[in-house]
Amino acid sequence: MKEVLLKKFEEIFGLTQDVKVYFAPGRVNMIGEHTDYNGGHVFPCALTIGTYAVARKRDDDTCRFYSMNFEELGILESSVEGLKYEKEADWTNYPKGVMWAFGEKGHPVLKGMDLLLYGNIPNGSGLSSSASVEVLTGYILRDFFNFDVSNQDLALYGQYAENHFNGVNCGIMDQFSIAMGKKDHAIFLDTADLSYEYAPIVLQGYKIVIAGSNKKRGLGDSKYNERRSECETALSELQQVVGIQSLGDLTEEMFETYKSAIKDEIRIKRAKHAVYENQRTIRAVAALKRNDLAEFGKLMNASHISLRDDYEVTGIELDTLVEEAWKLDGVIGSRMTGAGFGGCTVSIVKDEAVESFIQKVGAAYEQKIGYAADFYVVEIGDGPCSLS
Ligand code: GLA
Repeated sequence: MKEVLLKKFEEIFGLTQDVKVYFAPGRVNMIGEHTDYNGGHVFPCALTIGTYAVARKRDDDTCRFYSMNFEELGILESSVEGLKYEKEADWTNYPKGVMWAFGEKGHPVLKGMDLLLYGNIPNGSGLSSSASVEVLTGYILRDFFNFDVSNQDLALYGQYAENHFNGVNCGIMDQFSIAMGKKDHAIFLDTADLSYEYAPIVLQGYKIVIAGSNKKRGLGDSKYNERRSECETALSELQQVVGIQSLGDLTEEMFETYKSAIKDEIRIKRAKHAVYENQRTIRAVAALKRNDLAEFGKLMNASHISLRDDYEVTGIELDTLVEEAWKLDGVIGSRMTGAGFGGCTVSIVKDEAVESFIQKVGAAYEQKIGYAADFYVVEIGDGPCSLS
């Protein structure tokens, strides 16, 4: 891989003197969806697939960007001075946003770089290709300029760039799980205070299988922001009757006691999902610690049902993938993962059932939806690193 990337760098930017090679993973969330902006828990892990970078510091303030995933765009250039979101500059808004965020956080980036990227996470698949690029950029900046920032800061700056440069109001889960990833572990993160714990995922005899719906996201971002504001309104209604900071502060019982303070049926459903999903995530991690994979799987399934019926972020594509998976022997649990509205599902499948899972779910999906899904058997990997 490294050789191919270096060769490409030389072809695009000339000479590979003083270049360094880096990697940052993608992520999959096992359970705890749409809880990270509600002060709840999430349980994601970094993957061994992700984004590779070849980068070289420059003596001037110019940045030259090239992505092997968007070769048709060629080399895109900008200055580190006065960085601004540019719709037409497409993917480069992610690295530029992070350079801008470092400046906002007191670490101004004064010199440019030549940056070549290659990602083996399918774009727009819901495995956080954009957060991967953000954390990767932060990692490179720290390495180049010796900024005194932790991996957790890299996550926070990535989220800051996503929120304030790219205008997507995401929570902290994606960037955190990528920056803090640990091989064979998922991260049990409390988004209320960023306390976290690594939990080993030892799947003796099972695999994690991702199914990509290949549905284009379309209105995804605006629907995402809509769900956030529905939850915010529900929270302020609840705060009239109970002293809480976030929906994550409520147990199911408390929610049932106070829910009539929410003056709209839809908002009750949205808040119910946030509260119940948070409690499910806590229970799922406890089940995993007792080695009760069957219970973990049941909670994954319940998570999907709640995202389908109460949070309404699934759609026929994700529902088909999950409901077909549920029909099969050897499937411990299956649910949509990530923001929803397209993207992918995550399933825990017995080793010997993986092949027939891919074949059967794939065939049923294509028949019903009219185009194919993609399948990946994934492994849990470490956070960002230098490969030089
Ligand atoms: C997207 C966001 C995350 C999180 C998930 C839903 O991936 O970037 O912050 O909200 O959706 O759980």
